[in-house]
Amino acid sequence: MIKDIEKMLMSEQEIKNMIKKLGEQISNDYIGRTPVMICILKGGFIFLSDLVRNISTNVEVDFMSLSSYGDSTKSSGVVKIKKDIDVDISGRDVIIVEDIVDSGLTLDYINSYFVKHKPSSIKICALLDKPNAHKINIKIDYVGFEVGNEFVVGYGLDFAQKYRNLPYIGVLKKEIYS
Ligand code: IMP
Ligand code: MG
Repeated sequence: MIKDIEKMLMSEQEIKNMIKKLGEQISNDYIGRTPVMICILKGGFIFLSDLVRNISTNVEVDFMSLSSYGDSTKSSGVVKIKKDIDVDISGRDVIIVEDIVDSGLTLDYINSYFVKHKPSSIKICALLDKPNAHKINIKIDYVGFEVGNEFVVGYGLDFAQKYRNLPYIGVLKKEIYS
């Protein structure tokens, strides 16, 4: 473990086991269908790439990029599309793949944006969820792990663009961001 990490929350092996289960669940729910998995950049990129390799039905992938936290650890509540999806999702089964749900504001925004395109279904898949941090009522269909109100990094999640490459998920030491 690197020195900036206070404690490890999920090891590489635990993440691997969880993704396998999640993949099986999604495979069973989408038998005979071809969902479009839309990865929210940048945090979701490692999660998506491991997850799709554990799904046995056909899937398509696409990417969307939104304005993020900047280098702070608090949600600005302001969401702006920096890169839109390329695929036409009307009449499609959509699975949004997100790294972490904190206030839920980002997902709420994406969800209402996608609804306008009239997909046949939308489900949300999040690697991590902070249930105690939700500011709005949001239903997450597939969750990897629940975490407390701590700032976590690794496995795609960053602080100021760092730590995405850690193969595990850990809590960042407070002195790094305060
Ligand atoms: P929300 O709109 O408050 O739900 O924020 C969601 C986004 O904030 C996520 O997609 C992450 O990019 C970022 N975020 C929230 N909590 C954390 C964290 O603990 N570590 C890293 N990024 C986080
Ligand atoms: Mg981020």
